[in-house]
Amino acid sequence: MAKETALITGASSGIGMGLAKLFAADGSELVLVARREDRLNELAQELKSEHGIEVHVLPKDLSKKSAPKEIFTHLNKEKIQIDVLVNNAGFGNKGSIAELDTDLQMDMVQVNAAALTHLTSLFLPGIVERGHGGILNVGSLAGFQPGPNLAVYFATKAYVLSFTEALAEEISNPNIKISCLAPGPVKTEFGEKSDLEDSLLFKISLMEMAPVVKAGYEGFRRGKTIVIPGFKQQIVPFLNRFTPRLLVRKIAKKLNS
Ligand SMILES: NC(=O)c1ccc[n+]([C@@H]2O[C@H](COP(=O)([O-])OP(=O)(O)OC[C@H]3O[C@@H](n4cnc5c(N)ncnc54)[C@H](OP(=O)(O)O)[C@@H]3O)[C@@H](O)[C@H]2O)c1
Repeated sequence: MAKETALITGASSGIGMGLAKLFAADGSELVLVARREDRLNELAQELKSEHGIEVHVLPKDLSKKSAPKEIFTHLNKEKIQIDVLVNNAGFGNKGSIAELDTDLQMDMVQVNAAALTHLTSLFLPGIVERGHGGILNVGSLAGFQPGPNLAVYFATKAYVLSFTEALAEEISNPNIKISCLAPGPVKTEFGEKSDLEDSLLFKISLMEMAPVVKAGYEGFRRGKTIVIPGFKQQIVPFLNRFTPRLLVRKIAKKLNS
């Protein structure tokens, strides 16, 4: 049987890089996407020499609307078939929406939600036709409630969760896995880039990256629709169901400050 090929967005650091290493360790060939080409090349070299696999590097800025189609067209031309799509690229931006940079908020919607949707709709038909593979979308615990001071980020992650759950129901073939990895705060570059390192949320519930990535990878392989790493983190969606919405919003605001 031909080897599986996984396309991973946001593979230049953090969770995406961690997932790339797990896919590579299982023998998957890879297509790595992000903006920082030097980082992707470094990772590709490491994975090729450690696992003897084929790794393609495709530098792209997913905030550009044309990027998903360019990726799809390029891979078709190169006759590289994608069996697993990992939509991981994403970022946050802390602050009140009235004060934050408008272009950056729109880029966030594009990267976190629109590009994920676009890539899914381009690659899913082939996966469905061949009858195996899957989609692993990296959402967040943020997707389970509104997030004052991170309003756009939380809303994009609610979209990712809803979109992935719906997709999982649409696809009835057990050989096609559809998962949403929904972690709480994780030690990656994300905290610093999103200005969240000093937030209460990061202070009380930061997880190491390794168990998060492992839970996400294994959950995807088992076909688990929603994967929430960490016991404390799993309680959040459960408690949200029994807490008045007003209180949920106030708690989220406090945690994000
Ligand atoms: N860390 C957390 O606390 C946490 C918690 C829950 C969910 N998540 C989610 O996990 C995912 C990965 O984040 P991380 O924690 O691993 O953070 P990270 O280390 O900052 O990684 C983010 C990745 O996304 C890529 N990316 C960002 N903007 C991009 C763009 N315009 N075009 C292409 N690639 C872009 C970055 O690559 P380049 O900069 O090289 O383009 C990088 O590889 C994100 O979706 C994030 O929302 C993170």
